[in-house]
Amino acid sequence: MTKKVLAFDHHQIHAGNKGLGIDHESVARKVEQLVDSMTLAQLFNEIRGLQQAPIEGLYHAGGNESLGIPVYKMVDGPRGARAGNATAFPVALARAATFDVELERRVGLAIGKEVAAKGGNVLLAPTINLLRHPGWGRAQETYSEDTFHTGAMGAAFISGAQNYVLTSPKHFAMNNVEFTRFDMSANCSPRVLHEIYLRHFRRCVVEAAAASVMSAYNKLNGIYCGEHPELLTTILREKWGFTGFVESDWFLGTRSTAPALSAGLDIETPAGYRFSDEKLIEAIQSGEMSEGVIARAAGRAIYQKLAWKLDELEKPPAFVVESPEHLAVAREAAEKSMVLLKNAGALLPLPDSHRLAIVGDLADAINLGDRGSSFVTSTEVVTPLAGLKARFGDDNVAWFRSDDDFSALKDFDVTVIVAGLTYKEEGEYIPTMQQEAEGSDLARGGDRVSLALPDHQRELIRRAAAAANKVVVALQGTAVQVGDWIESVDAILMTWYPGCQGGHALAAILTGDACPSGRLPVTIPKSADQLVPWDVEALEVEHDLLQGYRYVDYHGHEPEFPFGFGLSYTEFDLEGLYVQRFDNGFEVSVDVTNTGKVAGATIVQLYVGYSNSSVLRPVRELKGFGRVELSPGEQATLVIELEDDDLTYFDEAEDDFVLEAADYHFDIGFSSRDLSLSQSWRLSPDGFEPI
Ligand code: BGC
Repeated sequence: MTKKVLAFDHHQIHAGNKGLGIDHESVARKVEQLVDSMTLAQLFNEIRGLQQAPIEGLYHAGGNESLGIPVYKMVDGPRGARAGNATAFPVALARAATFDVELERRVGLAIGKEVAAKGGNVLLAPTINLLRHPGWGRAQETYSEDTFHTGAMGAAFISGAQNYVLTSPKHFAMNNVEFTRFDMSANCSPRVLHEIYLRHFRRCVVEAAAASVMSAYNKLNGIYCGEHPELLTTILREKWGFTGFVESDWFLGTRSTAPALSAGLDIETPAGYRFSDEKLIEAIQSGEMSEGVIARAAGRAIYQKLAWKLDELEKPPAFVVESPEHLAVAREAAEKSMVLLKNAGALLPLPDSHRLAIVGDLADAINLGDRGSSFVTSTEVVTPLAGLKARFGDDNVAWFRSDDDFSALKDFDVTVIVAGLTYKEEGEYIPTMQQEAEGSDLARGGDRVSLALPDHQRELIRRAAAAANKVVVALQGTAVQVGDWIESVDAILMTWYPGCQGGHALAAILTGDACPSGRLPVTIPKSADQLVPWDVEALEVEHDLLQGYRYVDYHGHEPEFPFGFGLSYTEFDLEGLYVQRFDNGFEVSVDVTNTGKVAGATIVQLYVGYSNSSVLRPVRELKGFGRVELSPGEQATLVIELEDDDLTYFDEAEDDFVLEAADYHFDIGFSSRDLSLSQSWRLSPDGFEPI
């Protein structure tokens, strides 16, 4: 019998999420009683962090022992617990390349467990700001340029982590540049806001019951997100039914006292500055805000403490941190995240008998990602050099540093060049006086103006490729343009920031122990003008319906590598697309066969296109995907469930998502530009009919 694979198994993904299944009525009653019994000073204490610097990595907020109110202990972040040593997972953008929601749930589970073992109870993750442009310094920290993809991965992470701790998807909303993050205004229409930039936040809140949300530093349409009533109240609470708390982003995320609290910001972090006793009393006495506003914020801050029974949460033993199980998850994620972009002459996989040259300073560098708030340190990091030596044997791998003479490279069958980006070129931008005083080595990331590799890295590739026989480039970092050197190399493997087990994963992919299955969560353009305009200094940025592949497709550009692209060592075939109508949606099934010679996995992607629409719609949009693992000759039926909601657009007049009478084209294939099967359905007043 053919095996059946369900693309997103809700039951499995959301299992154990403590945010689901809360008895809201009874919690609301208890919160009301408690808040009624509290003094103003006690209420004040619940709506702010307690200290500027973390205690053993944890930021404390609220809590009152005599009233039995536990303390929130918050910790970053998106690629591991940022408190002492912890398992450093591949960055989120890498994990997004796995398109594996079940794995992302396990990553969330592992990070949540390590946070709980360290005494934390709120994980300041995931980062789910849409990757409007890959030049964003924090591109690595988020998942994807696509809202559906981000929503699925984010929801899976949250449900995993919320087996142990509360999560806090961030930054709400539209935080997608670094240098200007404290000042810039992201401007857009309600449609663009809801349909593109908030849709995945909605999924994380509504479906995965994210316990809290962190507001963003930037402005939305001229108003700071930390004091934006429409964002924090109308959308989050009234439209989506959110019952958790909103905490500000650190320091500059809280811009005011009464306006912020009235808009729906509940907790100032890391400590009370705008929400100090003095400022709160002043705002009440001046009549700017009533005591009721404080009670409301405090009630919201306390809500999850009672709902989650915070003081009874399991504290796993310390040995779960960096446990063999978690390292195995990190390695699996790294293996599944690597994207094979080029493999001329089927150079890869490499036979075990090869002697290899490995080139570049990054070959033995600890390159786990930026050094901003998501920085995680592991006790042991397997670099590319260490990974290849472990797999091929010490004597079979020769390392050439960037400045070495490369003439000996001709004596090796294959040269692996490790090139790419580090925290110096991209990352969260936290300029400090110390960094300035100590020079550029400590400089932290920021945005990239250009997607080209830095000159010294291009020069490294040029010199090594000229001297070597066959060349594989193992790229680290995030999306880079490759046009000026792609022809000089035989193979390119995007390895991202692959986490503490990255070197082993690289060796597994290069040798074929693991078959590459990662797919790009971001378009790699040929030139900058194939993407939306990108100005890292602009203080006003217009956001449109089209970005990422939506922009590229609409303008008919041929990118270097399209969204969803990735090569394999085996081949897959798709047939038998079958679309069935259900009550409020569709079940799309397709047969996937491994027609090649080795075991491997592929990512089947479902896009929806539109015609006869009354409004501008993107050419096509990702609306489902599934990872299917098959041995040679094996076949599976992949089932993708689609809800009518996935076909809607945001109608500004209705102030809601609307399913319009139009034609819907279900296109299925292996990337946004490789869609071999298609079926169309028409929605008329009589309902849906296939056409
Ligand atoms: C970042 C947040 C982070 C916070 C606490 C801020 O600068 O933007 O993502 O959670 O710091 O470290």
